[in-house]
Amino acid sequence: MRIDAMTLFPDMFGIVRDSGVTGRAHTQKLWSMHAWNPRDFTHDVHRTVDDRPYGGGPGMVMMAEPLEKTLEAIRIDRAASDSQDVPVVLLSPIGKPFKQATASRLAASAGAIFVCGRYEGIDQRFIDKHVDEQWSLGDFVLSGGEIAAIAMIDAAVRLLPGALHHGDSSLQDSFQDSLSGLLDSPHYTRPESLEGADPIPPVLLSGNHANIAKWRRQQSLMVTAKYRPDLISRARENGLLSRDDERFLKEISINSSDHAAP
Ligand SMILES: C[S@@+](CC[C@H](N)C(=O)[O-])C[C@H]1O[C@@H](n2cnc3c(N)ncnc32)[C@H](O)[C@@H]1O
Repeated sequence: MRIDAMTLFPDMFGIVRDSGVTGRAHTQKLWSMHAWNPRDFTHDVHRTVDDRPYGGGPGMVMMAEPLEKTLEAIRIDRAASDSQDVPVVLLSPIGKPFKQATASRLAASAGAIFVCGRYEGIDQRFIDKHVDEQWSLGDFVLSGGEIAAIAMIDAAVRLLPGALHHGDSSLQDSFQDSLSGLLDSPHYTRPESLEGADPIPPVLLSGNHANIAKWRRQQSLMVTAKYRPDLISRARENGLLSRDDERFLKEISINSSDHAAP
Protein backbone atom coordinates (compact mmCIF):
# COMPACT_ATOMS: atom_id res chain seq x y z
CA MET A 1 0.00 0.00 0.00
CA ARG A 2 1.32 3.41 -0.94
CA ILE A 3 -0.04 6.56 0.69
CA ASP A 4 0.57 10.02 -0.75
CA ALA A 5 -0.48 13.09 1.19
CA MET A 6 -0.74 16.65 -0.07
CA THR A 7 -0.04 18.81 2.95
CA LEU A 8 1.40 22.14 4.01
CA PHE A 9 2.92 20.28 6.99
CA PRO A 10 4.72 17.21 5.60
CA ASP A 11 6.72 16.72 8.82
CA MET A 12 3.52 15.81 10.67
CA PHE A 13 3.45 12.51 8.78
CA GLY A 14 6.71 11.47 10.47
CA ILE A 15 4.52 10.38 13.39
CA VAL A 16 2.86 7.60 11.45
CA ARG A 17 5.88 6.81 9.23
CA ASP A 18 8.42 6.50 12.03
CA SER A 19 6.77 5.35 15.25
CA GLY A 20 5.11 2.30 16.74
CA VAL A 21 3.31 -0.36 14.75
CA THR A 22 2.99 1.82 11.65
CA GLY A 23 6.67 2.80 11.80
CA ARG A 24 7.77 -0.83 12.04
CA ALA A 25 5.47 -1.74 9.14
CA HIS A 26 7.02 1.10 7.13
CA THR A 27 10.53 -0.24 7.83
CA GLN A 28 9.32 -3.69 6.76
CA LYS A 29 8.10 -2.10 3.53
CA LEU A 30 4.52 -3.23 4.11
CA TRP A 31 3.48 0.27 3.09
CA SER A 32 5.10 3.55 2.05
CA MET A 33 4.39 7.15 2.96
CA HIS A 34 5.05 10.10 0.64
CA ALA A 35 4.20 13.61 1.82
CA TRP A 36 4.08 16.41 -0.74
CA ASN A 37 4.05 20.14 0.00
CA PRO A 38 2.04 22.26 -2.48
CA ARG A 39 4.41 25.15 -1.63
CA ASP A 40 7.07 23.28 -3.60
CA PHE A 41 4.87 23.68 -6.69
CA THR A 42 4.54 27.48 -6.58
CA HIS A 43 6.58 29.97 -8.57
CA ASP A 44 6.40 33.20 -6.55
CA VAL A 45 8.90 34.32 -3.96
CA HIS A 46 6.43 33.86 -1.08
CA ARG A 47 5.48 30.33 -2.23
CA THR A 48 1.81 31.34 -2.00
CA VAL A 49 -0.77 28.58 -1.64
CA ASP A 50 -3.78 30.55 -0.35
CA ASP A 51 -5.79 33.63 -1.20
CA ARG A 52 -8.81 35.59 0.03
CA PRO A 53 -12.26 34.10 -0.62
CA TYR A 54 -14.38 35.43 -3.48
CA GLY A 55 -17.47 37.06 -1.99
CA GLY A 56 -15.51 38.24 1.05
CA GLY A 57 -15.62 36.86 4.55
CA PRO A 58 -13.02 35.73 7.03
CA GLY A 59 -10.04 33.48 6.43
CA MET A 60 -8.18 32.25 3.40
CA VAL A 61 -8.80 29.52 0.84
CA MET A 62 -6.27 27.05 -0.58
CA MET A 63 -5.69 27.81 -4.26
CA ALA A 64 -6.43 25.15 -6.87
CA GLU A 65 -3.32 25.58 -9.02
CA PRO A 66 -0.57 24.52 -6.55
CA LEU A 67 -2.75 21.56 -5.60
CA GLU A 68 -3.21 20.56 -9.23
CA LYS A 69 0.53 20.71 -9.84
CA THR A 70 1.20 18.64 -6.73
CA LEU A 71 -1.32 16.03 -7.84
CA GLU A 72 0.27 15.89 -11.28
CA ALA A 73 3.71 15.30 -9.69
CA ILE A 74 2.29 12.55 -7.46
CA ARG A 75 0.72 10.80 -10.44
CA ILE A 76 3.99 10.96 -12.40
CA ASP A 77 5.90 9.58 -9.41
CA ARG A 78 3.38 6.80 -8.84
CA ALA A 79 3.49 5.83 -12.52
CA ALA A 80 7.29 5.77 -12.43
CA SER A 81 7.19 3.31 -9.55
CA ASP A 82 4.47 1.19 -11.19
CA SER A 83 1.99 2.04 -8.44
CA GLN A 84 -1.65 1.42 -9.26
CA ASP A 85 -4.16 4.20 -9.74
CA VAL A 86 -5.78 5.11 -6.42
CA PRO A 87 -8.58 7.47 -5.36
CA VAL A 88 -7.97 11.07 -4.39
CA VAL A 89 -9.47 11.47 -0.91
CA LEU A 90 -10.18 14.87 0.60
CA LEU A 91 -10.26 15.05 4.40
CA SER A 92 -13.34 17.10 5.19
CA PRO A 93 -15.99 17.58 7.87
CA ILE A 94 -18.60 17.13 5.13
CA GLY A 95 -17.15 13.73 4.14
CA LYS A 96 -18.44 10.24 4.91
CA PRO A 97 -17.69 9.28 8.51
CA PHE A 98 -14.53 7.14 8.61
CA LYS A 99 -15.30 3.68 10.04
CA GLN A 100 -13.40 0.45 10.71
CA ALA A 101 -14.86 -0.83 7.44
CA THR A 102 -13.26 2.13 5.62
CA ALA A 103 -9.93 1.27 7.26
CA SER A 104 -10.27 -2.35 6.10
CA ARG A 105 -11.09 -1.21 2.58
CA LEU A 106 -8.06 1.10 2.53
CA ALA A 107 -5.79 -1.65 3.91
CA ALA A 108 -6.94 -4.04 1.19
CA SER A 109 -6.29 -1.47 -1.55
CA ALA A 110 -3.22 -0.05 -3.31
CA GLY A 111 -3.55 3.11 -1.17
CA ALA A 112 -4.86 6.63 -1.60
CA ILE A 113 -3.83 10.20 -2.29
CA PHE A 114 -4.95 12.26 0.70
CA VAL A 115 -5.60 15.98 0.31
CA CYS A 116 -5.23 17.83 3.61
CA GLY A 117 -7.09 21.11 3.71
CA ARG A 118 -6.09 24.11 5.82
CA TYR A 119 -7.56 27.59 6.39
CA GLU A 120 -11.26 27.80 5.41
CA GLY A 121 -10.79 24.89 3.01
CA ILE A 122 -9.97 24.29 -0.64
CA ASP A 123 -11.12 26.01 -3.85
CA GLN A 124 -14.24 24.03 -4.81
CA ARG A 125 -13.09 23.76 -8.42
CA PHE A 126 -10.18 21.52 -7.37
CA ILE A 127 -12.62 19.31 -5.43
CA ASP A 128 -15.09 19.07 -8.31
CA LYS A 129 -12.38 18.23 -10.82
CA HIS A 130 -10.09 15.88 -8.90
CA VAL A 131 -11.52 14.52 -5.66
CA ASP A 132 -13.06 11.03 -5.77
CA GLU A 133 -14.11 10.68 -2.12
CA GLN A 134 -14.40 12.83 1.00
CA TRP A 135 -13.82 11.30 4.45
CA SER A 136 -14.53 12.84 7.83
CA LEU A 137 -12.94 11.92 11.15
CA GLY A 138 -16.05 13.02 13.05
CA ASP A 139 -18.49 15.82 13.71
CA PHE A 140 -15.95 18.42 14.78
CA VAL A 141 -13.65 20.86 12.99
CA LEU A 142 -9.89 20.38 12.99
CA SER A 143 -7.42 23.07 11.93
CA GLY A 144 -6.26 20.87 9.08
CA GLY A 145 -6.72 17.48 7.44
CA GLU A 146 -3.36 16.08 8.61
CA ILE A 147 -4.47 14.68 11.97
CA ALA A 148 -7.50 13.10 10.31
CA ALA A 149 -5.33 11.54 7.58
CA ILE A 150 -2.78 10.28 10.13
CA ALA A 151 -5.53 8.65 12.22
CA MET A 152 -6.97 6.96 9.13
CA ILE A 153 -3.56 5.76 7.91
CA ASP A 154 -2.81 4.33 11.36
CA ALA A 155 -6.16 2.50 11.43
CA ALA A 156 -5.48 0.97 7.99
CA VAL A 157 -1.78 0.10 8.36
CA ARG A 158 -2.29 -1.95 11.55
CA LEU A 159 -4.63 -4.17 9.51
CA LEU A 160 -1.96 -4.99 6.91
CA PRO A 161 -0.89 -8.64 7.12
CA GLY A 162 2.31 -8.77 9.19
CA ALA A 163 1.90 -5.31 10.75
CA LEU A 164 0.90 -6.56 14.20
CA HIS A 165 3.11 -8.99 16.12
CA HIS A 166 0.14 -11.27 16.65
CA GLY A 167 -1.77 -11.58 13.40
CA ASP A 168 -5.07 -12.29 15.14
CA SER A 169 -5.06 -9.33 17.49
CA SER A 170 -6.88 -6.97 15.14
CA LEU A 171 -9.61 -9.61 14.75
CA GLN A 172 -10.52 -9.09 18.41
CA ASP A 173 -10.67 -5.32 18.16
CA SER A 174 -13.79 -3.24 18.54
CA PHE A 175 -15.88 -2.78 15.38
CA GLN A 176 -14.24 -5.74 13.59
CA ASP A 177 -16.72 -7.90 11.73
CA SER A 178 -15.10 -11.00 13.26
CA LEU A 179 -16.68 -9.87 16.55
CA SER A 180 -19.94 -9.00 14.77
CA GLY A 181 -18.86 -5.35 14.89
CA LEU A 182 -19.17 -5.30 18.70
CA LEU A 183 -16.86 -3.50 21.15
CA ASP A 184 -13.84 -5.30 22.59
CA SER A 185 -13.94 -7.07 25.98
CA PRO A 186 -11.81 -5.82 28.94
CA HIS A 187 -8.14 -6.85 29.19
CA TYR A 188 -6.01 -7.68 32.26
CA THR A 189 -2.30 -8.28 32.77
CA ARG A 190 0.16 -8.89 35.63
CA PRO A 191 0.35 -8.45 38.57
CA GLU A 192 -2.45 -10.81 39.53
CA SER A 193 -3.57 -8.69 42.47
CA LEU A 194 -3.62 -4.92 42.63
CA GLU A 195 -4.33 -3.03 45.84
CA GLY A 196 -7.81 -1.54 45.93
CA ALA A 197 -8.87 -3.25 42.69
CA ASP A 198 -11.32 -6.11 42.14
CA PRO A 199 -9.70 -9.50 41.53
CA ILE A 200 -9.11 -10.64 37.96
CA PRO A 201 -12.12 -12.65 36.69
CA PRO A 202 -11.15 -16.23 37.69
CA VAL A 203 -12.07 -17.66 34.27
CA LEU A 204 -9.07 -15.82 32.76
CA LEU A 205 -6.76 -17.76 35.07
CA SER A 206 -8.49 -21.10 34.44
CA GLY A 207 -6.65 -22.09 31.27
CA ASN A 208 -10.00 -23.26 29.83
CA HIS A 209 -9.97 -21.66 26.38
CA ALA A 210 -13.60 -22.41 25.55
CA ASN A 211 -14.78 -20.77 28.77
CA ILE A 212 -12.45 -17.81 28.21
CA ALA A 213 -13.82 -17.30 24.68
CA LYS A 214 -17.38 -17.49 26.04
CA TRP A 215 -16.57 -14.96 28.80
CA ARG A 216 -14.99 -12.58 26.27
CA ARG A 217 -18.00 -12.81 23.96
CA GLN A 218 -20.37 -12.09 26.86
CA GLN A 219 -18.23 -9.16 28.02
CA SER A 220 -18.26 -7.77 24.47
CA LEU A 221 -22.03 -8.04 24.38
CA MET A 222 -22.33 -6.40 27.80
CA VAL A 223 -19.97 -3.50 27.03
CA THR A 224 -21.59 -2.91 23.64
CA ALA A 225 -25.13 -3.03 25.08
CA LYS A 226 -24.06 -0.48 27.69
CA TYR A 227 -22.04 1.96 25.58
CA ARG A 228 -23.16 1.44 21.97
CA PRO A 229 -26.58 -0.23 21.83
CA ASP A 230 -26.79 0.87 18.17
CA LEU A 231 -24.05 -1.68 17.36
CA ILE A 232 -26.12 -4.46 18.97
CA SER A 233 -29.06 -3.51 16.76
CA ARG A 234 -26.82 -3.49 13.69
CA ALA A 235 -25.35 -6.91 14.50
CA ARG A 236 -28.88 -8.24 15.03
CA GLU A 237 -30.09 -6.80 11.71
CA ASN A 238 -27.13 -8.41 9.97
CA GLY A 239 -27.89 -11.80 11.57
CA LEU A 240 -24.59 -11.81 13.48
CA LEU A 241 -25.94 -12.63 16.93
CA SER A 242 -26.28 -16.29 17.92
CA ARG A 243 -29.06 -17.78 20.04
CA ASP A 244 -26.63 -17.84 22.96
CA ASP A 245 -25.89 -14.14 22.39
CA GLU A 246 -29.61 -13.30 22.41
CA ARG A 247 -30.19 -15.39 25.52
CA PHE A 248 -27.36 -13.62 27.32
CA LEU A 249 -28.58 -10.16 26.24
CA LYS A 250 -32.06 -10.98 27.55
CA GLU A 251 -30.57 -12.17 30.82
CA ILE A 252 -28.52 -9.01 31.38
CA SER A 253 -31.42 -6.75 30.46
CA ILE A 254 -33.62 -8.55 33.01
CA ASN A 255 -30.86 -8.27 35.61
CA SER A 256 -30.23 -4.60 34.91
CA SER A 257 -33.95 -3.74 35.12
CA ASP A 258 -34.04 -5.59 38.49
CA HIS A 259 -31.50 -3.06 39.71
CA ALA A 260 -32.96 -0.03 37.94
CA ALA A 261 -33.85 2.99 40.04
CA PRO A 262 -37.61 3.31 40.64
C1 LIG B 1 -10.51 24.72 9.58
S1 LIG B 1 -10.95 23.35 8.60
C2 LIG B 1 -12.13 24.04 7.49
C3 LIG B 1 -13.50 23.84 7.98
C4 LIG B 1 -14.56 24.29 6.99
N1 LIG B 1 -14.56 25.70 6.84
C5 LIG B 1 -15.90 23.83 7.51
O1 LIG B 1 -16.49 24.52 8.33
O2 LIG B 1 -16.34 22.73 7.14
C6 LIG B 1 -9.53 23.09 7.60
C7 LIG B 1 -9.37 21.69 7.05
O3 LIG B 1 -9.30 20.76 8.10
C8 LIG B 1 -9.75 19.49 7.65
N2 LIG B 1 -10.77 19.02 8.59
C9 LIG B 1 -11.38 19.74 9.55
N3 LIG B 1 -12.23 19.00 10.25
C10 LIG B 1 -12.17 17.75 9.74
C11 LIG B 1 -12.83 16.53 10.04
N4 LIG B 1 -13.74 16.44 11.00
N5 LIG B 1 -12.51 15.43 9.31
C12 LIG B 1 -11.60 15.49 8.33
N6 LIG B 1 -10.94 16.63 8.00
C13 LIG B 1 -11.22 17.75 8.68
C14 LIG B 1 -10.28 19.69 6.24
O4 LIG B 1 -9.29 19.23 5.32
C15 LIG B 1 -10.48 21.18 6.15
O5 LIG B 1 -10.36 21.68 4.84
